Amino acid sequence: MQAQFITLDGIDGAGKSTNLAVIKDWFERRKLPVLFTREPGGTPVGEALREILLNPSTQAGLHTETLLMFAARCQHIEDVILPALERGVNVVSDRFTDATFAYQGGGRGVPLEKIAVLENWVQGSLRPDLTILLDVPLEVSMQRIGKSREKDRFEQEEAAFFNRVREVYLNRAAAAPERYAVIDSSRSPEDVKSGIEAVLDRHFSAHG
Ligand code: TMP
Repeated sequence: MQAQFITLDGIDGAGKSTNLAVIKDWFERRKLPVLFTREPGGTPVGEALREILLNPSTQAGLHTETLLMFAARCQHIEDVILPALERGVNVVSDRFTDATFAYQGGGRGVPLEKIAVLENWVQGSLRPDLTILLDVPLEVSMQRIGKSREKDRFEQEEAAFFNRVREVYLNRAAAAPERYAVIDSSRSPEDVKSGIEAVLDRHFSAHG
């Protein structure tokens, strides 16, 4: 079986951390080789860029922000993602390029075509085999972010920003249903868990 590249994405407050644990459990039970990583980050350079990108005092313009996301991604792909896939290890990334389309494109207003140019340049033909998109209504995500620790640079944005982010995620998922599994994560944790497990079961039985 070819190693699979899986990404988990969604607006802030959609419940990524809880559901990453669900995915980890699923791989452990199956005893499948897997590497968990995240964006922005995943390498020393990427983590340093993450510090800059998430720091509320950073004043980066929208294009600079987009380029830094892809700079981090470039290193991540070269040093972590491709080598793991080549060794036959599945990769699960907590966010990937869908987040750039959604946040920098939808949220900040960078033209989606410009992001697609960077995607093609930095990734070549690499695209996720499966993207699990956690979706929640804005009221739910805002409530969850509100309860969390100090807010980072993105979490400080207002509701209109997150509405645009969510819309781009959902549009992308609707345009390529074979790659995306949209999970309504406003349901009970048990329902969300079984939804994710069903998606992974289906994906691996089709590609296993
Ligand atoms: P997280 O680790 O809580 O998901 O935080 C990462 C933040 O970075 C989140 O608010 C989304 C944002 N982000 C972008 O704006 N563009 C990107 O390409 C990525 C990967 C993340």
